Amino acid sequence: MEAPPAELPASLEDVRRVFEGAVDAAIIIDREHRVLYRNPAYDAYTGRRPREVAKLAQAGTPCHALFNLEICGEACLMRRAVQAERPLRMHEVHALRGDGEELTLIVTSTPLGGGLTLETYRDVTAESRVQRKYHSLLARERGAKEELERMVGERTQALRRAQDQLVLNEKMSSLGRLVAGIAHELNNPINFVYGNVDFLADYFRSLIGLLKFYETLDLSEDLRVCVDVYKQTVDYRFILEDWERLLKSVRAGAERTAQIVAGLKTFSRPQIGKVEETDLLAGLETTLNLLQPLLRDRVTVHTHLEPLPKVRCRGGQLQQVFMNLITNAAHAAGPGGAIFLEAAPLEGGVSFRVRDTGPGVAPELAGQIFDPFFTTKEVGEGTGLGLAISQRIVRSHGGRIELEPPDPAKPGAQFLIWLPLEPPPSPPESETAP
Ligand SMILES: Nc1ncnc2c1ncn2[C@@H]1O[C@H](COP(=O)(O)OP(=O)(O)OP(=O)(O)O)[C@@H](O)[C@H]1O
Ligand SMILES: [Mg+2]
Repeated sequence: MEAPPAELPASLEDVRRVFEGAVDAAIIIDREHRVLYRNPAYDAYTGRRPREVAKLAQAGTPCHALFNLEICGEACLMRRAVQAERPLRMHEVHALRGDGEELTLIVTSTPLGGGLTLETYRDVTAESRVQRKYHSLLARERGAKEELERMVGERTQALRRAQDQLVLNEKMSSLGRLVAGIAHELNNPINFVYGNVDFLADYFRSLIGLLKFYETLDLSEDLRVCVDVYKQTVDYRFILEDWERLLKSVRAGAERTAQIVAGLKTFSRPQIGKVEETDLLAGLETTLNLLQPLLRDRVTVHTHLEPLPKVRCRGGQLQQVFMNLITNAAHAAGPGGAIFLEAAPLEGGVSFRVRDTGPGVAPELAGQIFDPFFTTKEVGEGTGLGLAISQRIVRSHGGRIELEPPDPAKPGAQFLIWLPLEPPPSPPESETAP
């Protein structure tokens, strides 16, 4: 290694003059990184006394041994500037000052020709700290703003849901009143029909008996002809064959209407009945027994019933809910199908599942099946009140009933009911929310 030149070339004296009093540290180095010139600001970085630094520099100590930057070595800026033959600048360069202080610097490297390079170091530690702090504050503020926006969004959604629920409650309450009115108005006339149709049948039977008695009497030829003409005119033979069938269908129609009226009454007044400690499994069993004519030899019923705590509820009404769900499941499953019933204690209440092996509920209908009078059954086969009534009853107990999303592993429809152990203290008449 040749000895470092004792003096800078004359043209570099100007550079030296410029940097002598500068705040930034500056050095001029040769290809071997020997320090030919350093200003007083540089000495401060080394953590050594100026005389000691001067001695080391004169002995040819390389710059990185006097003051080491994180980029010394592989990423040496001087080498890259010389290769590029142009000045280079680097921000955010970390270095350890002689006294152990961590610094952040802006480093420039300027090739001066003749194998010499001018390097300057500007201490931006304080600014960089402030900037970092600023960025972290900014990020925190941005995070807080996003959190706030998320919360506002959530609250808005919650408010919207509450508003929808209120509107729905109001609608259901008006619907309940309307339905109660209709049920009341229909009740009397249908009872006239339903209550009297059996008497009418008796009267008719007596009259027919009387007519048949008259037929045994000996009538004159003229009278017999008159009677025959009359019989033909009124289609007597047909009346004899048809009257019984006709009255039977009037009775069936009246019976059905009375059932609908009863359903409308339950729909409009789901809170009717006494709240009592109830064994709902026993209620479910009773319902299954009542439904035997529908289920026997048609549908297989599988049960998985865990022991349940007693539930304070209107047991009769909940039996009606079971009845509606199981009937629907039996209809959907069809002959040869199966129904799965489950009961389990769940989250401060009890849950029931009713699943069948039928075709399930088409996704586009799922939002409507709980609507009153929504039915996909033939006219006369379904009124579309079963699920609406069930929902009203379950909700009036503070519970919920829902159609579960389709599960490819379990075909058919699956309904879930959840009931709290205790109904709400005094549910308002219009209660519809779970
Ligand atoms: N288990 C089920 N599988 C498939 N569809 C069902 C099932 N349960 C209910 N549905 C659908 O929901 C509709 C409404 O049911 P809901 O019990 O309210 O009335 P309904 O059975 O048609 O008549 P109702 O019960 O008044 O005699 C049904 O018509 C049917 O389309
Ligand atoms: Mg039904």
